[in-house]
Amino acid sequence: MSKGFVFGGKDGAEGAGVDCCTANAGKNEVYKVLCELECARLVEMNLPAGQGDEPHDHPIHHMYVIQGGKLKEELSGNEMDLPDHQAIIMPAGNHKIRNIGETDVKIVFVEPYANGTQNELKCELILPQTVAPTMYKTLAEDETWSVYTMEMEPGCEDPPHSHLDHFVYVLEGDGVTIYPGEQKSDVKKEVPFAFGAAFPVPAGPHCVQNTGTTKCKALVFEVKPEAKPEAKVEAKPEIVPEMKPEAEPEAKPEAKVETKPAAEPEVKPEVAQKTEPEVKPVKKKKSGICTLL
Ligand SMILES: [Fe+2]
Ligand SMILES: [Fe+2]
Repeated sequence: MSKGFVFGGKDGAEGAGVDCCTANAGKNEVYKVLCELECARLVEMNLPAGQGDEPHDHPIHHMYVIQGGKLKEELSGNEMDLPDHQAIIMPAGNHKIRNIGETDVKIVFVEPYANGTQNELKCELILPQTVAPTMYKTLAEDETWSVYTMEMEPGCEDPPHSHLDHFVYVLEGDGVTIYPGEQKSDVKKEVPFAFGAAFPVPAGPHCVQNTGTTKCKALVFEVKPEAKPEAKVEAKPEIVPEMKPEAEPEAKPEAKVETKPAAEPEVKPEVAQKTEPEVKPVKKKKSGICTLL
């Protein structure tokens, strides 16, 4: 199966259709794939001061700036100051970047595969932000991915929760223990926590304990639930046939042809009571969250 990308570069534009790792292969590992899931890959960019990269293309990508600096997009000539510790949702497109500042720039980002599939979550989705909001902070999100941090003091642990497919990138800490499952048990797995370590984590439930000696801090890039167009198609045919046959044929012919005193008292109570209770429970809508920082 091809794991291509939905690129943004127009045909003929410099770097269009070539991903960042392929375009810069052999160039001091400026772009490096840290880990992969079926639905996406996690990439780290290290661009030393003064160095530039080769033209390349990206799908929409959700990134976090570990160390920022001053960059120039050489195809357009635009310059930008990239602040430290900021999550940014970048649109798809081609570019060519040069580090024109005095600091090395380090960025980590997730790129979704065009034909990727998510692992199935076989329990209720209970995100850690909802059960431990003091430990988990959302930095940026849209309808496809969210970027958030986990911070935990030594000895602390979070309540059981669950995730969809996600990547973890370690910023601080020296030891974390994972307890897989919907409830904490004796089954556990120690995770080698150290700055720069990255892990792909398939959908599932667990809880986490900081079993290290210092505060731990990690980035999480988590996919959102896949859109399911089938739900909309099935809902409409059920509503239409239930409403029309019952309400219209009985009420209209009798009320207009015969005398008014006999028709009206019978028609009005039946129509009002039959139609409303049956229609309302069928109509359900879902709404998405879209926030860009
Ligand atoms: Fe890039
Ligand atoms: Fe978790």
